[in-house]
Amino acid sequence: MTTLDLFDDAMPGERQRMGTNALVLRGFALPCVDALLCAIDDIDTRSPFRHMLTPGGLTMSVALTNCGTLGWTSDRHGYRYSRVDPGHGQPWPAMPAVFSQLAREAAAAAGFSGFEPDACLINRYLTGSRLSLHQDKNERDFSAPVVSVSLGMSAVFLFGGLARTDKAFRVPLHHGDVAVWGGKDRLRYHGILPLAGPPHERLGSRRINVTFRKAG
Ligand code: SIN
Ligand code: FE2
Repeated sequence: MTTLDLFDDAMPGERQRMGTNALVLRGFALPCVDALLCAIDDIDTRSPFRHMLTPGGLTMSVALTNCGTLGWTSDRHGYRYSRVDPGHGQPWPAMPAVFSQLAREAAAAAGFSGFEPDACLINRYLTGSRLSLHQDKNERDFSAPVVSVSLGMSAVFLFGGLARTDKAFRVPLHHGDVAVWGGKDRLRYHGILPLAGPPHERLGSRRINVTFRKAG
């Protein structure tokens, strides 16, 4: 894989294109950060962040939880969506209105009107955590986009092609940025380089990514 650096300067309000149907909306989530963080704390008390096992038996460096009807999970048997938190067998916390509204507005701003996510995966990265290149393909409906909100420490997002070996762009994602990819770009490989750099003024050495999908 080779990589290219894109967009080293990013100002809130800018829209940067990653593909035909893929954009970064700089700072789009900034107006609702307080409400998002408060809701994430509440979700964490009911369905705590945990490190899941991959089908290959490795422990993910990213800790995750979910809200919404369907939650993404991983274990020795594979990746899938589940209506219940496997930690306690109860449904995942409901998706807060501030989440679904942000997802709908960001999707519309990127050209995908009528987005109604039923799944919200919340990933927590600490310094050194990474997410290797993968496609989001456990969902039933690829006509809906993926909407991905970044909070806390900045990270380098890799945005590749439809084949794992395609060249990947390196896109810095900062606190409050929202990336949206759908349509022709829906199945592009993507990942996060090991988290590094200065702590965030509010979240310290953490990055939280909130990703919305239509899974069912
Ligand atoms: C993901 O691919 O599910 C998360 C991407 C990110 O953390 O920005
Ligand atoms: Fe993903």
